[in-house]
Amino acid sequence: MPFYHKLGNIPPKRHIQFRKPNGELYYEQLFGTVGFDGMYSNMYHVHRPTQVKEIKRQYSVAPKVVKPNNMQSYRLYGFDVAPEKDYLESRKIVLTNTDCHITLASPQNKTQDYFYKNTDSDEMIFIHKGSGTLRTLLGNLDFKYGDYIVVPRGIIYKIDFDTEDNRLFIVESRRPIYTPKRYRNWFGQLLEHSPFCERDLRRPEKLETHDETGEFIIKVKKRDEIIEMVYASHPFDVVGYDGYNYPYAFSIHDFEPITGRIHQPPPVHQTFETDAFVVCSFVPRLYDYHPLSIPAPYNHSNIDSDEVLYYVDGDFMSRNDVKPGQISLHPAGIPHGPHPGAYERSIGKTETKELAVMVDTFKPLMVTEEAMKIADEKYYQSWL
Ligand SMILES: [Fe+2]
Repeated sequence: MPFYHKLGNIPPKRHIQFRKPNGELYYEQLFGTVGFDGMYSNMYHVHRPTQVKEIKRQYSVAPKVVKPNNMQSYRLYGFDVAPEKDYLESRKIVLTNTDCHITLASPQNKTQDYFYKNTDSDEMIFIHKGSGTLRTLLGNLDFKYGDYIVVPRGIIYKIDFDTEDNRLFIVESRRPIYTPKRYRNWFGQLLEHSPFCERDLRRPEKLETHDETGEFIIKVKKRDEIIEMVYASHPFDVVGYDGYNYPYAFSIHDFEPITGRIHQPPPVHQTFETDAFVVCSFVPRLYDYHPLSIPAPYNHSNIDSDEVLYYVDGDFMSRNDVKPGQISLHPAGIPHGPHPGAYERSIGKTETKELAVMVDTFKPLMVTEEAMKIADEKYYQSWL
């Protein structure tokens, strides 16, 4: 997160003695990213965070790729992904490359009896259905419909859901997920032309500090395997931290759309960036107001990007029969555009209620076994 945050109690300087009321030392942990070049936080634990008691099961959760070289446009019926009790087991990777996994999940259990840590990837969790609290060792974030939650790699968390009816769209990114650099000044502050500002980004406000010892399971994801590690102290035992590396939330409903006289290109919708893909938010907005404008997009060739659109709500202007929860995949290398009639139909319209999340990846996406279970195989012929 590109601005400073402090929670709980910390000593006046880094790397000095910081003592508990009984005189014992707290245990400092520097928690950094991108070697020592990325964002970092300094946190203070009640117990040493290194006390591994036992390493239990280790098993693969790697996606099963069925189309490594895909040139077919697909529609995926995301709500056909079957709900599953457990949060981690419910996560189904539908599209993947060496930079990211695109995942759908419908977890039913209201909580987990373990903690989870993804050491490979930042996670962007978009809440399509459900509400609850993301609990982390760096504080808690309440979430609801329309929230993006960004969990930087390595942050230990669990999710408490309010109900059993939850739908999540998740992107796991091997590269750090940031807000777009062009919207920040040289100090990192969001500029006036940014479609969101610091007030829209929610930071953890409540810190849980558990002074508990015993057996605590952390399911650690590394290289597409889960390793179950048993720790001797509660992972949420931080009394305070400060820095730039922490989870945060941003509601798609707080994205202020940028509109114009003629059709605005996808970068105006950009919300997050990485070295390997971008994330855009398509939100309700006024249409173009040139007297001869065509609000629907022109045909376009993403010659070097695969385009994934996750439909959240409203009528999508360029598609004829798209429903919430569906994904469209348009692979790099071939043009795509509005469905027959959509181009003409858009003329004269003044606003749209569409709500969607787009992920454009710079490397091609591979289609997985889980995707084929919910795929519309005829979609690629729907422009005839
Ligand atoms: Fe497109």
